[in-house]
Amino acid sequence: MNLIDYPKWPSLARESILNVPMDLRSIRLSIDGKVIDYGAEIDSVVITGMGGSGVVGDLLSDLCWFWDCRVPIIVSKNMRLPRRLSRPLVIAISYSGNTAETIMSANEALSRGYPVVGITTGGKLSTVLSGKGVPVVLIPKASAPRYGLPALLYPALIILERFGIASVTNELESGIAGIENALRHVDDAVNLAKQLVGSIPVVWVTESRRGVGIRFKNDLNENAKYYSVVSVVPEGAHNDIAAVTTKQVGLRHVAIMGPNDYEGLYEEVLIDVISSFGAKPIIVKLEGKTPLETEMYGVTYLGITTLALAELLGVEPVSTEPIDRLKNLLSERRVFPV
Ligand code: F6R
Repeated sequence: MNLIDYPKWPSLARESILNVPMDLRSIRLSIDGKVIDYGAEIDSVVITGMGGSGVVGDLLSDLCWFWDCRVPIIVSKNMRLPRRLSRPLVIAISYSGNTAETIMSANEALSRGYPVVGITTGGKLSTVLSGKGVPVVLIPKASAPRYGLPALLYPALIILERFGIASVTNELESGIAGIENALRHVDDAVNLAKQLVGSIPVVWVTESRRGVGIRFKNDLNENAKYYSVVSVVPEGAHNDIAAVTTKQVGLRHVAIMGPNDYEGLYEEVLIDVISSFGAKPIIVKLEGKTPLETEMYGVTYLGITTLALAELLGVEPVSTEPIDRLKNLLSERRVFPV
């Protein structure tokens, strides 16, 4: 089976962090008369980015359920930043550097006087930010944005560390161990993929694994060209679950279970209820001794599952033509002023 860039993920993770500037906190910029002091106190972190880049924000939010993150992480997937931010650090992530929504929100952050750090392989984001003296972490390339995930996530982790938001250095290698563990489970991933053929997957996750669920859905969309639904509990246990009595055909429930006690107990009850209505949920148990190891295991294992599914369906996994077409039309019609 062609694993595309997955076997390179451990080295992508390690290489990508080498380019994070050491002296981030001593940067002071003056942009359009506004002084931006990277050493000043911050009270939130906004992660702005779309798709395979934006999912880094979801994964960091997951991790902050387990880590003692000093400030909230706000995930922003839009051309505008949320209003009423007080003293945020903005991390603008775009693999290509050419995603209009991300460039616009990075520009908006600077115009509001917020410190911004870019993570990209280059493109306009790099040119625009570097031109203003804003720090940019240049990362190694992959076959498509989503296959470069560790190179997008690992620098973001180091940035959190440098800004004193979370201590991550002790866990970085465990994340890589999670990737390597998943790479040893390719046969299991193929078996999971076989069970998804011909279905619409309904993916159940707890809030603290939301990022893993979203990433699985995105990989199903982009690699296997498959629709799927993510239901996040507890909330999903108060609405989505009612649809288990549906007459709609072809749904396949997949419950992703983390090793944490509370999550496990909640999901056990959920699975009991779903099963009592005749559905037979597939249970995917995430493995890992640390939060980062578990997340990396999950995204790698489920990503490989979607590649296996693409192969079973005879679908070409890498290209995402509708996304490219939409981006081209947006730029032709000048929907975004970038
Ligand atoms: C994933 C993918 C998309 C992009 C998204 C944003 O492989 O192709 O989800 O990640 O369109 O583009 P970038 O990541 O270049 O900012």
